Amino acid sequence: MIGTFLKRFMPRSLFGRATLILLVPVGTILLVMSIVFIQRLYENVTRQMTESVANEITLLLSQANEAATPDEAISAARAIAVPLALSVSFLDEELVDQRASFDLSGRVVVATLRARNEDVGAIDFLSQEGSALVALTSIHGALLLEVPRTRVSARNPHQFLVLIGITSMLMIFIALLYLRGQVRPIRRLAAAASAFGKGRSVPYRPAGAAEVRQAGQAFIQMRDRIERQIEQRTLLVSGVSHDLRTPLTRMRLALGMYDGPERDEMVRDVDEMQAMLDAFLDFARSESLGEPERIDPTPLIHAAVEKAVRGGGNVEVGVIEKTEPITLRAPAFDRAIGNLIGNAVRYGKTARVGLSASEHAVSVTVDDDGPGIPPELREAALKPFTRLDQSRNQDAGSGVGLGLAIAGDIARQHGGTIELSQSPELGGLRAAIVLPR
Ligand SMILES: Nc1ncnc2c1ncn2[C@@H]1O[C@H](COP(=O)(O)OP(=O)(O)OP(=O)(O)O)[C@@H](O)[C@H]1O
Ligand SMILES: [Mg+2]
Repeated sequence: MIGTFLKRFMPRSLFGRATLILLVPVGTILLVMSIVFIQRLYENVTRQMTESVANEITLLLSQANEAATPDEAISAARAIAVPLALSVSFLDEELVDQRASFDLSGRVVVATLRARNEDVGAIDFLSQEGSALVALTSIHGALLLEVPRTRVSARNPHQFLVLIGITSMLMIFIALLYLRGQVRPIRRLAAAASAFGKGRSVPYRPAGAAEVRQAGQAFIQMRDRIERQIEQRTLLVSGVSHDLRTPLTRMRLALGMYDGPERDEMVRDVDEMQAMLDAFLDFARSESLGEPERIDPTPLIHAAVEKAVRGGGNVEVGVIEKTEPITLRAPAFDRAIGNLIGNAVRYGKTARVGLSASEHAVSVTVDDDGPGIPPELREAALKPFTRLDQSRNQDAGSGVGLGLAIAGDIARQHGGTIELSQSPELGGLRAAIVLPR
């Protein structure tokens, strides 16, 4: 419960979390310390200052009470008040207690004065800016004493707070700079890994703290190994295909002059072998088709459909949602759609190509009205060299079994996948190339 609650408010990035981990404890300690310290200190200082004013009031009152007439009383009181920066007069109007609610030291002043001196009546902090008006009872009548605020309470702790504030901000700023320096190598590693996942090899050099550097080194080793393997596979397949071409061509030539009974069959075999070799070569080269660039996939889809129509297929463009440009290797993408459309028209009659775009992914779908592929065979159909049960697709002609595998390879190169399902509209297969944004 609390976990999910916290998770919702926790920043997602490492930088954000580290900042929070840094700020919350330091901020809390600072706040608590300042409040406790300021309250104690200023309360004590205020009390001490007020106590000395209370003593002056006692003296002033005793002088006034000793005088014979009210006039003498007031002049006796003034004789003490003036040098002490207080001013005293008879009270004409009634005075009531008044204090701003946030004026905490005012509360201490009132409590201290009343405790020290029972002749102190109402105390008003608000009527006169910068002064406290205190009503006093003398035997000659009520007196009004005006005490400058600076004489009773300590000045506001501005300096102290400003100093703490500025120092903490400076320290936090330096800490954040340093933190950013620590997070940057992790970000770079993540960017390099995610680019490689999408088939791009961006320059990357391990940097940062030891653990990050280690992860970076491991990533580079892994990337090198995968690149080497891909290269070897390409070399192997294209080498073999290439080397087989020459003897095949020779056989074809020889067959031209041959006139035996199995001639037609042999020519068909040679043609089929030729087609297979071409498919192998395509497969081997699918990794290196084109450079990644940011483009809008819509025109590519229209072009692929047009090409299929020219080739005699019954292919149409379905719903195309608008999308921002995505990073694509255009020729590879074209090949992948071409393969899916090729399957759709080979195993069905009608094909429909659509595009749907969501916040995180773009998917190109190719639907057909053929027999489809049952769910349990879908994974197998994606593997190289698998052709499903031939009786399911009679007169469909037989391919090599590489079309879906090549499309899958291309999708993975772009960081995406191929998903097979049942076409909701046409009832046959729906093959979708799902690419992340
Ligand atoms: N649209 C589809 N409808 C029904 N079955 C399909 C469809 N697409 C592919 N399949 C099945 O999946 C198998 C693998 O398809 P894939 O495209 O990889 O190979 P292929 O079409 O047989 O040969 P290639 O495409 O290399 O010429 C096919 O043999 C076929 O049985
Ligand atoms: Mg195919």
